Amino acid sequence: MSEWDTLTKDDINEIQISFVKLKGKQQEAGDLLYKHLFESSPDVAKIFKNDIKEQAQLFMKMMKTVVDGLNNVHILMAGLQELGGRHREYGVTPYQYKYFGESLMFSLEKTLGNDFGEKTKIAWGKLYDVLEKVMRRE
Ligand code: HEM
Repeated sequence: MSEWDTLTKDDINEIQISFVKLKGKQQEAGDLLYKHLFESSPDVAKIFKNDIKEQAQLFMKMMKTVVDGLNNVHILMAGLQELGGRHREYGVTPYQYKYFGESLMFSLEKTLGNDFGEKTKIAWGKLYDVLEKVMRRE
């Protein structure tokens, strides 16, 4: 039993298909995420030191790795736990994880439009919960 078991085969399918549909719109989705995050929670902006366009690219690249790895999640674990450790060093708090998750959902909804239906939304929500759990585990 692992946290990944909450994701069904259907959820994984929804996530992978919707991510393919983001092709060509990844920068837009990333930019929108950080814009939404900084507007909904201005204090979060202070912990980012680097260029946000580049940050958006790094985040989307990591999400691609995650989405591609969903059929074989054990290959993701070490990388995600190290990423989580770096996030502790950046000073990311639990409530900031919550805001970030909301901004991710907002950006996917805006960028994918009708392709972000109820099933897709639920699947992404589950994925974010798992990522948060794995990244925050000490
Ligand atoms: C699914 C969740 C997340 C993923 C996949 C993710 C991914 C990344 C990646 C790939 C980097 C590049 C640097 C590195 O690899 O250490 C990064 C940096 C960073 N992330 Fe995240 N992140 C997530 C959640 C969050 C949350 C919730 C926050 C807080 C609001 C956050 C704040 C930061 C900060 C402050 C940096 C350093 C950038 C800088 O110094 O300007 N991240 N993140």
